[in-house]
Amino acid sequence: MSAETPAKSGNNEGFAAAIVLAAGKSTRMRSKLPKALHPVCGRPILVHILDALAEAGVTRRIIVVGHESEKVRQALDNHYGAGILEYAEQTVQNGTGHAAQMAEPLLGGHDGTVLVVPGDAPLLTGDTLRQLLRTHSSKNAGATLLTAVLSQDAGSYGRVLRGTDGAVTGIVEARDATPEQRGVREINTSVYAFSGPSLFRALRDLRPNNAQGELYLTDVVRLLHEAGEIVAAEVAPDPEVVLGVNTRVELAEIAARMRLRILQRLMLSGVTIADPATTYVEAGVEIGQDTTLLPNTHLSGATRIGEDCRIGPNAIVTDTIIGDRVQFRVSLADGAVIGDDSKVGPFSHLRPGTTLEPRVRVGNFVEIKASALAEGVAVGHLAYLGDAVVGARTNVGAGTITCNYDGQRKHPTQIGSDTFIGTSTTLVAPVTIGDEAFTAAGSVITNPVPSGAFAIARERQTVKEGWVRARREKFARMASETAAQAEKGEGLNTQ
Ligand code: UD1
Ligand code: MG
Repeated sequence: MSAETPAKSGNNEGFAAAIVLAAGKSTRMRSKLPKALHPVCGRPILVHILDALAEAGVTRRIIVVGHESEKVRQALDNHYGAGILEYAEQTVQNGTGHAAQMAEPLLGGHDGTVLVVPGDAPLLTGDTLRQLLRTHSSKNAGATLLTAVLSQDAGSYGRVLRGTDGAVTGIVEARDATPEQRGVREINTSVYAFSGPSLFRALRDLRPNNAQGELYLTDVVRLLHEAGEIVAAEVAPDPEVVLGVNTRVELAEIAARMRLRILQRLMLSGVTIADPATTYVEAGVEIGQDTTLLPNTHLSGATRIGEDCRIGPNAIVTDTIIGDRVQFRVSLADGAVIGDDSKVGPFSHLRPGTTLEPRVRVGNFVEIKASALAEGVAVGHLAYLGDAVVGARTNVGAGTITCNYDGQRKHPTQIGSDTFIGTSTTLVAPVTIGDEAFTAAGSVITNPVPSGAFAIARERQTVKEGWVRARREKFARMASETAAQAEKGEGLNTQ
């Protein structure tokens, strides 16, 4: 996230700044949430773009906001911290050129390079932007466009116009293009590098002479060409980087590409992914070498996984830190910490505030919430631990339940080390059990159990000899009496 070495914009002009155009209404999303905030692989669209700019070494990022601007600012400031980004307001959405004009009060005096990027292209990478900056600087250009060559009809994209010598002369919007211009497959990606002074000079000369009656940023390119400045173009090696989100169909398509990109990066860094088609890893997740992700694994949020783990199949892990050599099968974890060499699942649910130290075993149908389990603890089957602290090597028997909630408040349970909690122990919190203690199966523990003690809290067993035979004979007797009565009754009826 943090900016790398700032990218020099060439000719010792100073450092690169960027204008991100994100004031548009994005009606086609049909959403209450501004388009820029829709998440793609766990991060808002705009955050992907802002991160790419930081990766490219851009030191100042000005976001032009308009539609739902408060929501956008708040979300971004929550993500990056207040004061990191700068904002310009465009209260009326009068076109991309008009949007760029809004940044002039902040950037007008900037004599370095100004990148302009759209707010809806999350696949744009830091590498692509760096390359654009390099080309811009080496060509000593007034403007350098990032273009892409499409393999099919270029639809609604702006077409790049070149003169007979191949030099870029302008951009024409699809709406305003002649049939011949429409045939051009080299498109404007809406990603540009400008010399700051040239950009703001040309922006002042924009006129709304087009089908939409708006101020088009694209016209700046023609104006600079006409003014005799060099207009260079960098063709994106992969047109994918410029795809924009305009509808939720595109949102899903772009998310699928981003997901694949994340998985490829992980695989190339040494993570085995058995089935990329069913594996979902969000952008910020980190995974160590030689960890294997099995099918149907979903890793999200601030999840971090160590080396040599086996995660999945069917794992849903959010905001969880997992150590090395952990096995996590068919389970859910949210806001948990799992120590080295631990085994979780199948069918476990680790909820927020759960900490497992190394070599803990949490097994079949176990739910744990806000509890700390020390090294070597085993909770093998069918248990619920809430607000509990469990000491090292303690064994929690099948069916153990902490009764941590009295209908109003949560209460803690404290269990020492090397203790044995018998099967189906009910621990009525607040309650404390010492070290090397032992509870009898089926006990309801309501009072403290000191270290080394055995606690049994259940009804004593009663044995009634011969009870089953006596019961059987009683039932047989009752049955024959009923039959006899029925026979009598029938006899009466027939007379
Ligand atoms: C724009 C380009 C087009 C290019 C395409 C690439 C223009 C005139 N056209 O078209 O050449 O091929 O991008 O995707 O620039 N915005 C504002 N304020 C406004 C209008 C737009 O901030 O008044 C923002 C939008 O929020 C969006 C970006 O600018 O993030 C691009 O606007 P959009 O309406 O999507 O432009 P396109 O029609 O896609
Ligand atoms: Mg667009």
